[in-house]
Amino acid sequence: MKVAVLGGTGSFGKALAGRLVALGEDQVVIGSREASRAQVTAAELGGGAVGATNEDAVRDAAFAVLAVKADGALDTARAIADALGETPLLSVASAIAFSNTGVKPDPDALSLAERIQQVVHGPVVAGLHSIAAANLDAEPADEDALICGDDAAKLVAGHAIDAGPLASARTLEGLTAVIVNVNRRYKAHAGVRITGLRS
Ligand SMILES: NC(=O)c1ccc[n+]([C@@H]2O[C@H](COP(=O)([O-])OP(=O)(O)OC[C@H]3O[C@@H](n4cnc5c(N)ncnc54)[C@H](OP(=O)(O)O)[C@@H]3O)[C@@H](O)[C@H]2O)c1
Repeated sequence: MKVAVLGGTGSFGKALAGRLVALGEDQVVIGSREASRAQVTAAELGGGAVGATNEDAVRDAAFAVLAVKADGALDTARAIADALGETPLLSVASAIAFSNTGVKPDPDALSLAERIQQVVHGPVVAGLHSIAAANLDAEPADEDALICGDDAAKLVAGHAIDAGPLASARTLEGLTAVIVNVNRRYKAHAGVRITGLRS
């Protein structure tokens, strides 16, 4: 399956793309605003990964991951919407706000993922927000992957958990603020494990 990772030149996108390359099941296309930057990242990752502009990356992808900086997520979704067509899009972005008193969730009533759903034609799922890029880098992260809206890939050692409809992305995105505060306080790359599930 061809998977496009938009913003695959960044910390999270590159780490995620690296995991997908390591799994060896998908053809990974790194997307960037600049094709040359994407090609450099793809060459670093190896494993048949290729680089393209975000728009070209999604053209014949079976699945796309929107891993651009949160500030640019909505505009990027608008820009690629026609090229993306009906292809499912996974949003990993959280629009958190940094302040003197800590990191706060986005005050907007809708999650970023719901706003992205308003501008693209295919289904949007939201997830992986709680996994630090640093924890994706090598082995499968020892945590769960919470996904709203659909299924997840084999990126974590824990469960891929269906966390409900896209509206639940409001909570998942807000949870990022909590985790970033924990990471700052404890100098960690904290993640999430949900207990009480039967496999
Ligand atoms: N870092 C983490 O641990 C982590 C964990 C979970 C989720 N996330 C989410 O993953 C996403 C990426 O995070 P990151 O830390 O990897 O960010 P990042 O490294 O700062 O940026 C990722 C990429 O976004 C592109 N970009 C930057 N500004 C942009 C803009 N205004 N419009 C469109 N594209 C832009 C850049 O690619 P080009 O310049 O090549 O276009 C950049 O390489 C965010 O939405 C974040 O909420 C991050």
